[in-house]
Amino acid sequence: MPNIATKDLIKVYRAGKSEVIALRGLDMQVADGELVAVQGPSGCGKTTLLNLLGGIDRPTAGRIDVDGSNLVDLSDPELVQYRLERVGIIFQFFNLVPTLTAEENVGIPMRLAGKRPSARGKRTKGLLELVGMEKRAAHRPDELSGGEQQRIAIAVALANDPPLLLADEPTGELDTKTGQEVLDVFQKLNQSLKKTIVVVTHDARVAHIAHRVLEIRDGKIVTEGTAA
Ligand SMILES: Nc1ncnc2c1ncn2[C@@H]1O[C@H](COP(=O)(O)OP(=O)(O)OP(=O)(O)O)[C@@H](O)[C@H]1O
Ligand SMILES: [Mg+2]
Repeated sequence: MPNIATKDLIKVYRAGKSEVIALRGLDMQVADGELVAVQGPSGCGKTTLLNLLGGIDRPTAGRIDVDGSNLVDLSDPELVQYRLERVGIIFQFFNLVPTLTAEENVGIPMRLAGKRPSARGKRTKGLLELVGMEKRAAHRPDELSGGEQQRIAIAVALANDPPLLLADEPTGELDTKTGQEVLDVFQKLNQSLKKTIVVVTHDARVAHIAHRVLEIRDGKIVTEGTAA
C-alpha cells in the first residue's frame, strides 16, 4: 500500500475575477520509504502539490490519501495535528524563528505537541547530532551559514518524528558544497531512518539520490522516470 496516493487532484486559485488552475487532475503514488524527486517548469504546480500533501492548503477537488486517511476528510483541528505529527516540511527559504537559537527552534514543534521539557531536551540534542549541528545549538539563525540553517530546518521538521518529509527546493539558495551536505542529510534520513521523502527540486543531483523522478507539466504528472 502506498504511503501517499492522490487521485484526480485539482487546485484552482481564485483571485478576484481571475482563476488559475494550478493542478488539473494530478494522480501520484509514493510508497513507504521511497525518496521521490518532483520536477517541472516554473508555475507547473509543484509548490501547490506540496502544500496540499503537507496539509497547509486544501484541494478544490480530488483526494489525498496519506497512510490510509484522506486529508480532505480531516477537520481543521485534525489537519493541524497532521501537520504537527505526521509530516515535516522544509522550504527553500529557511523557516527558522530569527530570535531563537537552533535548539529553541527545534524545540518548538515538540512544545506544540505537548512533549515534556526533559524529553524535548534529549530529542533536540539527538536531532542536532543527526544533522551534524550539535556544536551550533546555541547559535541564532543569523549566526549560521545557509547550509547550517537548512540543516537546523530539517531538524525542526523531524522534531515530532513524522514518517513523511516534504521539501520544496531545499538546496535552491545554497552553493554547490552546502547543497550537497543538505542532500547527504536527506539520503541518510531515507536510508537509515526509513523516512518517506518527496523533494521538489531543479537540482540535478537530487536525481542521483532519488528512487524515482516525477515530472509535472501544467498541473499533471507527465512522466515517471527511474532515477540514475
Ligand atoms: N495563492 C495563489 N493564488 C493564485 N495563484 C497562485 C497562488 N499560488 C500559486 N498560484 C499559481 O498557480 C500556479 C502554480 O504555482 P506553484 O507555486 O505551484 O508553481 P511551482 O511549480 O512551484 O513554480 P516554481 O518552480 O516557480 O516554484 C502558478 O501559475 C501560480 O501563479
Ligand atoms: Mg514552487
